[in-house]
Amino acid sequence: MSYKITEGVTWVGKIHPDFGQVFGKKLSTKIGTTYNSFLIKDEKNVLIDTVWSPLGKEFVSDLKKEIDLKEIDYIVITHGELDHSGALEDLMEEIPHTPIFCTGASICSLKGQFHKDWNFIQVKTGDELIIGERKLIFYESKMLHWPDSMFVYMTKDNILFSTDVFGQNYSAHESLLFDDCLDGEELYQRALKVYVNLFASYNKIVNKKIEELKNLNLDIKIICPSHGVTWRSNPWYIIDKYAQWSNDYEENQITIAYETLRGSTEKMAQYIEEGIKQVWSEIKVKLCNLAHMDNSDIIVEIFKSKAVLLGSPTMNNGIFPSIAGLIELIKGTKLKDKHYSAFGSYGWSGESVGQIIEDFKRYNFRVIDEGIKQLWAPDEDAKNRCIEFGKSFANKIKDSDKKEI
Ligand SMILES: Cc1cc2nc3c(=O)[nH]c(=O)nc-3n(C[C@H](O)[C@H](O)[C@H](O)COP(=O)(O)O)c2cc1C
Repeated sequence: MSYKITEGVTWVGKIHPDFGQVFGKKLSTKIGTTYNSFLIKDEKNVLIDTVWSPLGKEFVSDLKKEIDLKEIDYIVITHGELDHSGALEDLMEEIPHTPIFCTGASICSLKGQFHKDWNFIQVKTGDELIIGERKLIFYESKMLHWPDSMFVYMTKDNILFSTDVFGQNYSAHESLLFDDCLDGEELYQRALKVYVNLFASYNKIVNKKIEELKNLNLDIKIICPSHGVTWRSNPWYIIDKYAQWSNDYEENQITIAYETLRGSTEKMAQYIEEGIKQVWSEIKVKLCNLAHMDNSDIIVEIFKSKAVLLGSPTMNNGIFPSIAGLIELIKGTKLKDKHYSAFGSYGWSGESVGQIIEDFKRYNFRVIDEGIKQLWAPDEDAKNRCIEFGKSFANKIKDSDKKEI
């Protein structure tokens, strides 16, 4: 399958509808993904990116239907991650001497992954490659989200090939491969999920790079990310979203994420929510049971929140393993500047809440309360304590909001 982006540019990537998880289990897609590869035909023919290794043979065979491979003059790799470079192995067997344009860091990552001495040509920010009527201009975009990433802007069609930046995971049908063919809210949520899971840990770098991109004053009419749909109706919409998301973004939300063995910690979560709502009716409280939600979705809720409560029963004198994993994920995503506290039920020794708070402090999370714990199932008295805890927690966040204004 292929389809035209513009007269001179054809999508020649692969759709992977049954691909539910990216990076092991780090990022769920639920409806799969696309690996976007683009063929530009001009006086010189250029292939931008390839697809994931297991689809390499299929990719090369489909590409032959679009062009005699010997007529590909240049290959451009926007970053070395295998879901975009993996098919190089199959492709280079057919055209081993074709130059591969990429950043210096990509040469290292591609050599490290393939151990092949292909004809690499290093490009730097501002370098240009004239291919006929069109010109490719390269902009390094280090740590968005790999050290070797780069944007490629193409004149005439005014396309920004943006690597994983501005991407989303969709395994769209042919008619759905443009932003204007999709439900805007779902597209927003999918783009945000990619942002949080891949880019949020580099917020400051992203913000600077997006400002730089804006200041280049490029007349961008189309954005082709390396996953998901092409932005053509209003490409500046997603550029502006990245500028917002990378700048201390938060919504009026508190997230309560918990796991429970027998339901007591879950009851505590519900009572705490009740307390929060009693003093702050406008705030959205999002309850996330780790048994029923992916971490890659929960981290999006945490990203959006002003404050976060983690709930864990005590298990084997410690924190429930999934909650311990979530703390690692929050740390890695660098969301420690939210307001944090903890809660949980226990049966005899009751270490979980104290250990969560200790972890928060060790990693310099902003702890706003030492938390609340409950022996066995909450009774009426414990219910009231949880409600009071929720009220007091909400009031502290409100006060802190006022101080920051
Ligand atoms: C496998 C297992 C290990 C446990 N280990 C501890 C423990 O080390 N210390 C403790 O205080 N309670 C321990 N408990 C008791 C639970 O913390 C207690 O039942 C709690 O109320 C469970 O909360 P939940 O209903 O939210 O799952 C353990 C329970 C189970 C099932």
